[in-house]
Amino acid sequence: MTAVEEVPTELGGVAVMQVTLRIKRMNPEGTGDHAPGEDYWEEFHLEAHATDRVLDALHKIKWEQDGTLAFRRSCAHGVCGSDAMRINARNRLACKTLLKDLNPAKPILVEPIVGLPVEKDLIVDMEPFFASYRKIMPFLMPAGPAPERERLQTPAQRERFDDTTKCILCAACTTACPVFWTDGQYFGPQAIVGAHRFIFDSRDEGQWDRLEILNDTAGVWKCRTAFNCTEACPRGIEVTKAISEIKHALNTGEI
Ligand code: SF4
Ligand code: F3S
Ligand code: FES
Repeated sequence: MTAVEEVPTELGGVAVMQVTLRIKRMNPEGTGDHAPGEDYWEEFHLEAHATDRVLDALHKIKWEQDGTLAFRRSCAHGVCGSDAMRINARNRLACKTLLKDLNPAKPILVEPIVGLPVEKDLIVDMEPFFASYRKIMPFLMPAGPAPERERLQTPAQRERFDDTTKCILCAACTTACPVFWTDGQYFGPQAIVGAHRFIFDSRDEGQWDRLEILNDTAGVWKCRTAFNCTEACPRGIEVTKAISEIKHALNTGEI
């Protein structure tokens, strides 16, 4: 039987599919035949609508089959960034991935994102990721005392960093980067995106401090232009382009 098979339904004509999710699991305390910390694959079979998302399928499993299944989610609408996971070998948000868009010929593979320590099932320890983000000082550093009114900016000045304001800190980019997987020191692409958002903001005066941080051995020069980060970003941010703009600023001294 295929993993996703459409069968007739009487529920308002909406197609119902038989879906198989093969989920990579790990329980730090051990469970059944599995030792503490051992990872293993487990298959779940369920009925779902064609328009359901992977997050809906995970909920159905958790609520109807196995309440111990662990994963993060909050907004369910692609805003909070908490449900990045590896789905069919690609980093995606579970709440933005429709079952009907996945390969119906095979079970849908669901794994935690790679390169961060797994805490349980699909939940990883995000602290190393946020530690890199904190290093680039992700807050506005304007010059002088606060004005009586807002700090004005032209549309062209705003456009300069518009793309990188869209980041939702989901970590899909950083955990898709082969340098991040193997190096152990690299800040990762998200930290560079976070820095870009302030470096090219005309109201900010901390750009050279941030560029100095990114010029560090753990910074932008580690990037090998693999483009995995750009392909993984669920917000469509041109991550590799942002990294190249930072490299250009460091090479030329021009912002
Ligand atoms: Fe997620 Fe994109 Fe931000 Fe990376 S740049 S953390 S993939 S939203
Ligand atoms: Fe990694 Fe993206 Fe550079 S995947 S190597 S940060 S272009
Ligand atoms: Fe918030 Fe998916 S649950 S982005």
